[in-house]
Amino acid sequence: RTVYLNGDYIEESEAKVSIFDRGFLFADAIYEVTAVVDGKLIDFPGHMERLTRSLGEINLEVPFDQASLLEIHRQVVARNNLREGLIYLQISRGSTGDRDFNFPLEPVAPTLVLFTQEKALIENPVAERGQKVILVEDWRWLRRDIKTVQLLYPAMAKSLARDKGADDAWMVENGQITEGCSNNAYIVTADGTLVTRALSNSILAGITRQTVLQCAAELQVKVEERAFSAEEIRQAREAFSTSASGFVNPVVQVDGFAVGDGKPGPVARRLREIYIKNSL
Ligand code: PDD
Repeated sequence: RTVYLNGDYIEESEAKVSIFDRGFLFADAIYEVTAVVDGKLIDFPGHMERLTRSLGEINLEVPFDQASLLEIHRQVVARNNLREGLIYLQISRGSTGDRDFNFPLEPVAPTLVLFTQEKALIENPVAERGQKVILVEDWRWLRRDIKTVQLLYPAMAKSLARDKGADDAWMVENGQITEGCSNNAYIVTADGTLVTRALSNSILAGITRQTVLQCAAELQVKVEERAFSAEEIRQAREAFSTSASGFVNPVVQVDGFAVGDGKPGPVARRLREIYIKNSL
């Protein structure tokens, strides 16, 4: 793989970052994941808008503009002949050559990294069969609206899900679902209403979520942006998640209980189709 590191396109084995990089020592870094289909970037402006916001929220000033970030994305796609998969971008606060909790007072060059990952996004067997999820307490920090690389708890929760034979964990706070480990969570109620948590500091504002809600409007599906409980999932007709890496993924089982008839539901299926059709 050819990766991007601070101005250079280099072989991944050549890409080296200081052990004092604040991303490494403090998770002092922001990331984005953008999908690529047919060599084309999906929802790119949305991802860059959120990147800018996340960087602003942690006071990380960045000397890159949108146009150069777009060019770097295009270059890593081209140089790796990526047809379908993901682009990972990370910006960390760089290194002062020491470990210090304080943000540096003098400007330090941030570390910008991009790499590609091939992934079958359109023909995805997981989307065909539907996912099993477990519910876990949401023990993350309270600024989940910022896309930081501080992902230890989601990694633990997802691995716990795997150990239990499930695909993902949905997180629960005060009895209400917040989101999945790396996706936003939805149900379709018995009367056909699409419910997903409203945006706040409790969840990440998914870019796929934004587009999928537009698709729902197109399909004239009624949408309520509000929290929902585990009990409501049990009463629901359907459940699904959205993310750049999964698009729309039906959820067919939650904590061992079948959701609806236990098969991917029609609303999830149609939203997935229209999302993909609109993005190409
Ligand atoms: N995760 N919620 C969380 C906690 C996430 O990490 C993500 C994305 C989402 C969905 O956001 P979007 O639709 O913009 O991808 C929601 C990425 C894909 C990841 O960590 O790999």
